[in-house]
Amino acid sequence: MTSTMTMEPSRAKRLKAQTHDTHAGVDSAIMSAASFADRAGYGRFLRVQYLFHRDIAALYAEPALQALLPGLPERQRLALIEADLIDLGMDAPRPEGPARFAAGEIDLPTGLGWLYVAEGSNMGAALLRKEVAKIGLSDTFGARHLAPAPEGPAAHWRSFTAALDAAELDESDEPRVGAGAGAAFARVQALIDGHIG
Ligand code: HEM
Repeated sequence: MTSTMTMEPSRAKRLKAQTHDTHAGVDSAIMSAASFADRAGYGRFLRVQYLFHRDIAALYAEPALQALLPGLPERQRLALIEADLIDLGMDAPRPEGPARFAAGEIDLPTGLGWLYVAEGSNMGAALLRKEVAKIGLSDTFGARHLAPAPEGPAAHWRSFTAALDAAELDESDEPRVGAGAGAAFARVQALIDGHIG
């Protein structure tokens, strides 16, 4: 390889660059609402998590996505969020409408984009876990869905991005991955505006 040839950034790196500002937006929207100062604030964050993970639950059960992303079913966090709501004596929020994804109606490139956002959010979870420990929440009470994977958040993320990068898509399908990631962040931001902001 001559020094002038530049390596095409990986799919995960392209998505990171594309969604950097949007991520900063949701991060600051959640933190500036002092969502972790007390259980009431955390409860509002948990409602956002519940509605977002309810939207994407069908993606984790989709055979075509499971074939591309080994261990996908085990990465689902909706049941943990439901257990956290019960720990805190909270009812699950009433959804405004049907979940965003339903079995049998999933566009693979779009689904990959949404899963990039959902799985990437585990990276921030490692930080949030420390915050909520200050209000008495833990991996076994109220913050189960923030608990790290056994291999640790970084290794768990690396195995996800390696599979995401290895997924073979037609060039014409690639833009829908990015659009999916953008739509996922927009959905999270809308839920934050509705339940936290
Ligand atoms: C208070 C809220 C949040 C904090 C403090 C936070 C923090 C972080 C941190 C420290 C990283 C690792 C950054 C890096 O390695 O460069 C990260 C990555 C990421 N976060 Fe967040 N995050 C928050 C909320 C969210 C939310 C709500 C979502 C979406 C649902 C999200 C999606 C992502 C994604 C997709 C990545 C991976 C970026 C990449 O390396 O490609 N984050 N976050």
